[in-house]
Amino acid sequence: MPFALSPERDRELDEILKRYPTKMAACIPALHLCQDQNGWISEEVIAWVSNRLDLPPAHVKGVVTFYTLFNQHPVGKHQLWVCRTLPCALRGAGEVLEHCEKRLGIKPGETTADGKITLRTAECLASCGTAPMIQVDKEYYENLTLEQVDRILDKLQS
Ligand code: FES
Repeated sequence: MPFALSPERDRELDEILKRYPTKMAACIPALHLCQDQNGWISEEVIAWVSNRLDLPPAHVKGVVTFYTLFNQHPVGKHQLWVCRTLPCALRGAGEVLEHCEKRLGIKPGETTADGKITLRTAECLASCGTAPMIQVDKEYYENLTLEQVDRILDKLQS
């Protein structure tokens, strides 16, 4: 099915385009708007962005495949990122990840059967001083204990 941004998001894209020197420069924010609406960047989304910004589809695809923030496959309702870079690793990120894997019955990159949670690993999320930490959608949870992780997972699964 062809993709199109909602009228509201399309107006937002118009505003974004006014702030950028070229349409090409607005490719990343345009893709973010599309992902916010669609959950992931499908071939149809790439075609729409390519058309809207007058860019070759290969350019848009190159951006999508370069940045890990863009989902190239359907994902769960919530995305849970476990930071695994050294400061978090030294403060228990491995245990946090293992705990999430056990509780959810999935490995990083997978989505729970009910479609609620996609588990991901991330490189430094710039919150090293509050390690270990995770990001759920756009929210940070910091200085985590496994009990706190349980409460977060309970909430996401309810
Ligand atoms: S290492 Fe985890 S936030 Fe920086």
